Parts: sequence; structure tokens; C-alpha cells
Amino acid sequence: MCGIIGFTGSGNALEVLIRGLRRLEYRGYDSAGLALLTRDGISVVKRVGSVEALEREVSSLAGTESSVGIAHTRWATHGGVTDRNAHPHTSCDGRVAIVHNGIIENHEELRAELIARGHRFTSETDSEVIAHLLEEELRARPGDPRGALTSVVRKLRGSFAFVAVSTWTGDAILAARHNSPLVVGVGKDFSIPASDVLSFLEWTDDAIFLENESCAVIRPGRVESWLFTGEELELKVTKVAIEVSEVDKRGYVHHTLKEIHDQRFTVTRTLTEELGPLGEAAKLLREARRILLVAAGTSYHAALVGRYVLAELADLDVQPVLASEYNLVSRWVNGDSVLVAISQSGETADVLEAVRDAKQKGAKVIGIVNMPGSSLERLSDVHINIRAGPEIGVAATKSFTSQVVALIRLASAVSGKEVPLDPEELGAGVEQVLEQEPQIAEIASILKDSKDVYLIGRGVHYPIALEGALKVKELAYVHAEGLPAGELKHGTLALIESGTPVIVLNPSDDTHTDTLSNCQELKARGARLIGISDRHHSVYDFFVRIPRTGSKYASVLLEVIPLQLLAYYMALERGAEIDKPRNLAKSVTVK
Ligand code: AGP
Repeated sequence: MCGIIGFTGSGNALEVLIRGLRRLEYRGYDSAGLALLTRDGISVVKRVGSVEALEREVSSLAGTESSVGIAHTRWATHGGVTDRNAHPHTSCDGRVAIVHNGIIENHEELRAELIARGHRFTSETDSEVIAHLLEEELRARPGDPRGALTSVVRKLRGSFAFVAVSTWTGDAILAARHNSPLVVGVGKDFSIPASDVLSFLEWTDDAIFLENESCAVIRPGRVESWLFTGEELELKVTKVAIEVSEVDKRGYVHHTLKEIHDQRFTVTRTLTEELGPLGEAAKLLREARRILLVAAGTSYHAALVGRYVLAELADLDVQPVLASEYNLVSRWVNGDSVLVAISQSGETADVLEAVRDAKQKGAKVIGIVNMPGSSLERLSDVHINIRAGPEIGVAATKSFTSQVVALIRLASAVSGKEVPLDPEELGAGVEQVLEQEPQIAEIASILKDSKDVYLIGRGVHYPIALEGALKVKELAYVHAEGLPAGELKHGTLALIESGTPVIVLNPSDDTHTDTLSNCQELKARGARLIGISDRHHSVYDFFVRIPRTGSKYASVLLEVIPLQLLAYYMALERGAEIDKPRNLAKSVTVK
């Protein structure tokens, strides 16, 4: 999952590319690079490491006045993390440079054909084939960039979004996308193609979302686009309703901590503000014969909560499905099915693939999204925006609680009953939990060197145990396992030794008594218990109080925040990256 960006127009391309790349770095951060079109040809600087490291490197180029360029931040898929594999990639004659996000599935075959025609490759990546193909096509038809680009994309298989500059095409940036996102920020006299809107918000909030399976020639303030089939496209400029300030850390040391704290207002914003056509979505659910909730990672945990919420509030028997395991159930999807796809980025490849399959089978798709203009939003028959605001930290936090609130509102829209959450109570509850941050940080410093951490919960709290485990793993790099409390005796109890940390989600609802019995069993075997509940008990070694609320769903929303903070402070103690955890990326746009 990489970040790509380009600039063409009046202005300093280098400056825009670097600042835009910083805002894309959460998409991948193994290496970074850029290419500038100058009067002497194309200058390329690229290297392993962060955008900051690239910035130091390009200072040597600072004198280069260029108004056209492209840049890239990489999450390696094909080819190791090396300078040579960093993007941009160039053609043999150095007259073409490209940056790419996605996977060219037929790259080996194309590479062999190109080498047979005399091309020399300098990297191990799949992406480099695009540069050589463009070189051939532009050389063959120097005055017809559209024809050259169309011919290239018709040879590619797989997912791709790429932008290219060349000495053949002057201030025009060539672009194409197939199942990877690409959007163009447009101003009066400049254009900024990029992987997402966050990268160009500083300069414009006018965006053109390129259609899937389309090409574009992007000039200063002007974009022309057509489908791979050749059909010309009418382009629409959309106003992006995100404030740049929402993307900044606003004084926090990490985006992740800021976004955990953002829940002071995002949870109640999702609860009280307009999310989109909930009524229409509810109608689809009422009429459906089969309902699947499809998601990945944290969004899948929200889907698991959704199963309880839709069953208990709307009497709907829905099936959560991991997007990567969707093929098993695909055979039963048809015109009577509704697929509820949940995705913060709206670009998760597995989710989009499931959505495309379901649509082909006649199913209706409800998208529960966060990023405006995402592929999922545009593929959905009905989409609901959770309004959590941009989430930059790779670890999902505020988007999770907003996804859960959106599902609760959707369930209420189906049943016609009152939403069982009170904004005042919820907002106050989040504040009260956040006030315990010092104590939670204290517990984190005790847990930070644990070999394994276990988290248990019953009923609707089980998905929260899973979510807490994922946070501990991806932020602190500590192995953690979430499991249903009722499953302990069926095996995992064998792993409990003296001092084993077990986090227990145990609010005083219909799951409390049975979970308390689990605590006694764990204690008898020497476990160290961290209780998260509105009711204290002497069995806990550590305790984080969540406020007593009128609804168990409020408890679900409140009890996940201590887990987010615990994972954050464990990571801080362990010196982990936090906003950009190793090996991960914010948007998994490849399968
Ligand atoms: C969660 O902290 C992870 N970043 C990851 O599991 C994420 O939830 C998953 O990749 C799904 O992303 P999405 O919501 O953008 O589809």
C-alpha cells in the first residue's frame, strides 16, 4: 500500500511533493522518492527510509526550479526494501518516470517480453514494467499521449494506480487506475493527482475522483479522462469537506494519541449528526433474505459488534465475514442479499473485491465508510459516513467507536426504536475514561515486557477483547490474544501461569457474573488480572473504572478506550513507532 502524488502547474513542484508526501506517509514508509521534470530532463532522488530522510537528500536539488513532478512513499510488495526498488522507476532512456500503487500481476511476463526487446531493468519490482512500456508507446507515438497510455494499460493485469512524467509530455502528467485509488486536487492553475485527498488539502479542496479502469492526462488546472475502452468521461469536481486542521497532530506527540482523544467528540458526533440515508439502508436490510457484514481488521471487530447490535436491537440474524474469507459465502450471495461493507479507508482490496463480486450477483451494498470519495463509497448502493474525521495513525481507534455507533444507529433505523445511547452520558463517559490515562499508563509500564497478554470478554464484549488484542500487537509488538471468556476452560487456561496478564472486560451487565467466575479461575492459577468495569472487585490486581451507563452498548464504546490507551503506552514504553507500526500500512490496497 503505497502513497503516490504528482504536481503540475504554477508553483514549486518539489515543495508541494515533499509536503504532500508527508501526509501520505501513513500509507507506507519503507522508502520514498521523487522525480522532477527539468529543462535538462528528469531528475530522480529516491532512497530507503522516511520522507524526512528524502527531504534531506533532495536539498541538493533545492535549486531545481521545476513545476512538474511525481513522488512516492512505498510499502514493499515485490522486491526488498532497497534504494533501487524505491520509486520512481524510469525507462531505459531516462525520459519517463513513474510511481505506482498496487500489484501488476503479469509483471514477470511483461518483464521477459521487454527484456527480449532490449530493455534493461534496474529494480526487482513489478512496477518498473510500466516505465518501459510507456517508453515504447510514447516513442512510437510522441504526439499521442492518450493513445500511448491506453495501449499500456491494456497490457497490465492486477491492481494499479500510477502517475508518470516524461520529456515527451511536458507539463502533462499521465495517470491511470484500476482497483487502486487515484484522485486529483485541482486549482486554477495547478493539479495534484494523489492516492487520497489528505495529501493536497493544504492547496485545494476541489477534487476529481478518477473512475475505476480509466486513464487521464492531467495538466495545470485541467484534467481529461477516458475509460480503458476509450469512452470519454465527464469529470465532476467534488468539494472535500475535511479541514486541514483535522489532519494535523494539534500538539499531540502522535496522531494515534490525538485520535484516541478525538473520541471526546467523534463518538457523539457520529451519534448526533447526519451520516447519510440510514432510512434507505434500513429498508434494504428489512427486505434482505441474507445479510453479510464484510470487513477486515478492526472494522471486522466492529462487524462482530454489529452482529450483536443488529440481533438484539433489530432482530436481524446477520453474518460477519472476514473479507479475505468471503469466497466461502460468495456462492450464496444473490439478488436477495445485502452486503454491509465496513471500511475506514474504503480502499481495502479484500473488501472491494467482495463488494464487486456481490454486486455482480445482484446483491445490494451498504458501505459504512469514513474517508470521503473512497472506492467503497462509490461502489455502494447506499453509503453511510461515520464522520470520525481523517484517521492518520495506522492503528484504527476513533474509527472503530464511530463504526460501532453507526451500526447502532442503523439497527435502530431498522427497528424504528430509540437509539439506546445518550449523547450527554456518552460524552461524559469518554471524558471520565480519558481522565484515567495516567493510571492506564502506569499499568502499561507494568505490562510492557509481557511475553503474552490475554484479553477476555463475553457476548458483545468478546469482539472488544479481539480489538484490544489487535491494538497491543500492532502498536506495542507484544503478542496478545482475545478470546471469549467462556472458552477459557476449553484450552487457553492451560497457558495461564503465575503472573500471566489477563485483561477482563466485565461491565455489570448480563455477562458480569459468569465472567467474574472466570476471574476466580484465572486467579487460582496465578494470573494477574486487569479489570475493566463499572464495578470494582478484589479479584482484580489492577482496575480501570468505566462509568456505569444506561446501556451495555455505551459500555462497549467506553471499555475499548482503556485498551487503546494501554496499547499506546506499552508501545511508548517500548520505543515502538506508534503512528507507523513496522510492516503495516493504513490502507491495505493489495490482497
Ligand atoms: C487496525 O488497527 C488496522 N490498521 C487494520 O486491521 C485495519 O483495521 C484493516 O486493515 C481494515 O482497514 P479499513 O477499515 O480501512 O478497511
